[in-house]
Parts: sequence; structure tokens; C-alpha cells
Amino acid sequence: MLFWRVKPLDQILATAEKKSLKRQLGAFQLTMLGIGAIIGTGIFVLTAEAGQKAGPAMMVAFVIAAVVCGLAALAYAELASMVPVSGSAYTYTYGVLGEGLAWAVGWALVLEYAVAACAVSVGWSGYMNGLLIHTTLFGLVEPGALALPEALRTGPMDGGTFNLLAFCIALLVTVLLVIGTSKSAKVNAVLVLIKVAALTAFIAIAVPGAQSPNFEPFFPTGWGSPLGGIGVLGAAASIFFAYVGFDAVSTAAEETKNPNRNIPIGLIASLAVCTLFYLLVGYGAVGSMGSQPMLDANGVAFHPGSPELAEACRGSEALVCSKEPLAHVLRMLGFAKMGNLIGLAAALALPSVILMMIYGQTRIFFTMSRDGLLPRVLSKVHPRFHTPYIVTIITGFFVAGFAWWFPVGVLADISNSGTLFAFVMVAFAVMILRKQQPDRPRPFRTPMVWVVCPLAIAGCLLLFLNLSLYTLSLFFGWAVIGMVVYALYGYRNSDLAPGRSPPTDKPVLEPHPTFHEGPDPGP
Ligand code: ALA
Repeated sequence: MLFWRVKPLDQILATAEKKSLKRQLGAFQLTMLGIGAIIGTGIFVLTAEAGQKAGPAMMVAFVIAAVVCGLAALAYAELASMVPVSGSAYTYTYGVLGEGLAWAVGWALVLEYAVAACAVSVGWSGYMNGLLIHTTLFGLVEPGALALPEALRTGPMDGGTFNLLAFCIALLVTVLLVIGTSKSAKVNAVLVLIKVAALTAFIAIAVPGAQSPNFEPFFPTGWGSPLGGIGVLGAAASIFFAYVGFDAVSTAAEETKNPNRNIPIGLIASLAVCTLFYLLVGYGAVGSMGSQPMLDANGVAFHPGSPELAEACRGSEALVCSKEPLAHVLRMLGFAKMGNLIGLAAALALPSVILMMIYGQTRIFFTMSRDGLLPRVLSKVHPRFHTPYIVTIITGFFVAGFAWWFPVGVLADISNSGTLFAFVMVAFAVMILRKQQPDRPRPFRTPMVWVVCPLAIAGCLLLFLNLSLYTLSLFFGWAVIGMVVYALYGYRNSDLAPGRSPPTDKPVLEPHPTFHEGPDPGP
């Protein structure tokens, strides 16, 4: 059946950009790389949403999400090392499960990357607005003098009218990407330091302030129920966002010395370090300030991102209402300056996450367009900047257009739905490929594949089903639009469509210096 037309892996590898990267990363560098890519809006911002969903039991949610990510990452790394080409899960699926599912994954990855960029833009805006409200510019201005009007601080679903800063940062990052900015290894190292220092400072101040009454009740919303989007599992489904980015380790397989040993160490170590940080941050936030959810008149927790919660939060100092929870906790504990510094750290570090996400999105669109599944104009490369500028500009407008409107939690949940779907497909693809092509070289092999992959699928499905009905309706609505686009365009214009002779002068992107690029050790 044509829907299942598969692009042979050898063909994929032949059309891939030739990168010939040096194998130079060891377990330590990989772990740093992972930590740098993982820590972002999730811990800095979604702690409030996790508190609204699960109360103090958000700490349990952190662990569940980490375990699911660890399993998915081990599966992902096998394909990443076998097919080290752009397009990630979309490309792997094309080579194993066929075009129809590859399209579905590529379409879902729009949620993973573009919507995640929206979420991080909104998260950044929360911290930036907090800074503008609290800063005095070293005594030069009165507190609040630089604050934006309230209506411009959040989007319409979040008690405001237009999230101006989220809109602006998304466009600014887009401009940087069009002119070819990338994150250098040095900048990455500095940003990792800033993030880790900020979280460490938070832990050092908040953890000693923990008081046991703040942990009671520990499970105010229980485990949650499917499609409920609340409870510990609902919180885990959201906080999953805080771990996304570990695929940076999997996709570095090509550059890794002894990948069979170092990739799993890098993956597990970066996830373990982040989990430890997240647990300590969660413990400090909950213990020092409490994180009980806002409840309606019937004692039911409001849904994060709902206008009702925005209304209930008006004027509230509760942790779950804050747009900059970590800075807020420190200010409430009487450490206003440290709160501002944490805000500054987030404001400095988060734009690079937006950059990575929009970058990832453009490369997926680029690959799909090069395969003929999206109009070829999208893979047009700018003559001067050598960047896929058309697709970057379109993606940037899309990101800015959603970021000004939606609350961060809603965006993170939508993004997670796409990511979880893609991970399920990847885990299936790993197992199928083990059967179909057992002898194909695998620089990294998933350990205990017949246990890890089924568990990864089960874990991802568990989290997927614990997203809210609202999120899943948006996911399926997006999927239906995707099917229509595929039927009307991709199916006929694909390189693999019968009778088509794909253009021979396919655009190629210069190998983009990635954020984990290291110095070329020379011949
Ligand atoms: N894990 C990344 C973040 O939390 C996506 O921002």
C-alpha cells in the first residue's frame, strides 16, 4: 500500500548531509551537553503548573517523568546512532514504518518543537516581566517604573490581552536564526553554568526553609484519571517538558567516542543529575512556601491554563499562581535580590532554548520539504546567510502568533503530546528494525531492547493519556489537519509517489555548527 511506502535507510543515508564529525565526546561532555539542553522553562516555570496539578506530590511527578524519559531516550539513541541525519524521529520513521506514519510523526514534531518554542517564549516573558516589575536598576528607578501594563504581560487566556514580550522574543530569535546565529560551545558552557548556579542558589536558600506543614496534604489531587490532566500523573505528563532536550545526547552519537558505553552513561547521568536538581528545587519550593492547588467552590483543583484559574489567581501570592515561581519563592522568603538574580539567570538562559527549538523545527520542515512532502519552496536556502530562511520566517511567525495568546502550561502540554507520540513511534521503529535488519550496524544498541522499548511505549502512552482532554483534542485536531494536508499535497508530491522524478538538485544545508561542537582536533 502506498501509504506505507518506505524510504530505504540506505537511500536516506545517501542523501544526508555529509558531516564527518570527529568522535571526540566522552561521557562527561555528553552529560554536560544533556544538562545544558534539558534545564529550561520546565523547572523555572512549570513548577507552578505541577503544583496546581499535584500539590506537594509534584516531586513524585518529577521522578515518573524522568523514568519515562530515560526509557524513551535509550530507544531513541539506537536510531539516532544508526541514522545520524537531520529530521530526527521523522526520518527514522520514514525509513522503517513508511511515509504515512513518517508524515504523522513529522506533523507531531511541529508540536514538539514549534509549540515548545512558544512555551519557552511565554516562560521567558514571565521572568522578564517579573524583572521589569521588581528591578530598580541599582537604585536608578523606582520599583515598578519599568513594568509593562498588566494587559501586556500575559495572553488572553491568562488574564491579560497580549503577551508582548513572548511575541517579541520569538521574533527576535527568528531574526537571529535567519542570519545564521547558532549557539557556540563556549556560550553553551556559560549558559549551563548560569542555570546550574541559579538552581543551586535556589536550593541553598529554599531547602533549609522547608517546614513539614507545607507538605500536608501531600496528595491533594490524587493520582489523576485518564484525560483528566490533573493529579500526579497529570503533573508528570506536564513536567515531562522539563526533561525534553535529552535527545541532544542521542543525536550526538556520531561524535561520541565508544558510543555503546558513553551514550547510555551520558543519557542516564544527565537525566539523573537533572532529576536530582528538580527534586531539590521542588522540595525547596514546596517546603518553604507550600504548593497547594487553587480549588473551586467544590474543592476541585482548577485546570492550569484555564481562565478560571487566572481569575482565582488575581492578586494571589500562591506559588501555583506565579509566572516566575523560583524568583517568587525567594522574594517571598525575604531574598529579593537573589530572586531578581534568579530571574536574570532565567532571562539570560531561556532564549537559547527557544533558538534550539525553532532551529529543530526548521530542520524538520526542511527535510520534509526536501522529500517532497511539503512545498519545495520551504527548503530554499538564503544565498547570503545559507539558512533555510523561508521556513524559518514562517516558523517564527507561527511561534510568535501562538506565544502571545496561550499560557505556558497549555503550550507545554500540547508540545508534550507531540513529543510523546513521536517517542512511541521511535520505540516501535527500533523493535521493527531489530527484526527486519538485524545485521545493520548499530553504533549504539538499546540495552535489553525487548524490555526497554515496550516499557518506553507504555510509559509514553501513560503520560499521553494523562494530558487533559483539551490538550488531546488539540493534538487530534492538528492530526486531522495533517491528514488533509498529506492527502491533498504530500501524498502526490512525495519523491516516492509513483511516476514522479524528484529534482536532482536538492538543496543542502551546510553542516550547522551545533551547540555541542568542539574544537576540531585536526587530522
Ligand atoms: N526541557 C526544556 C525546558 O524545560 C525544553 O525548557
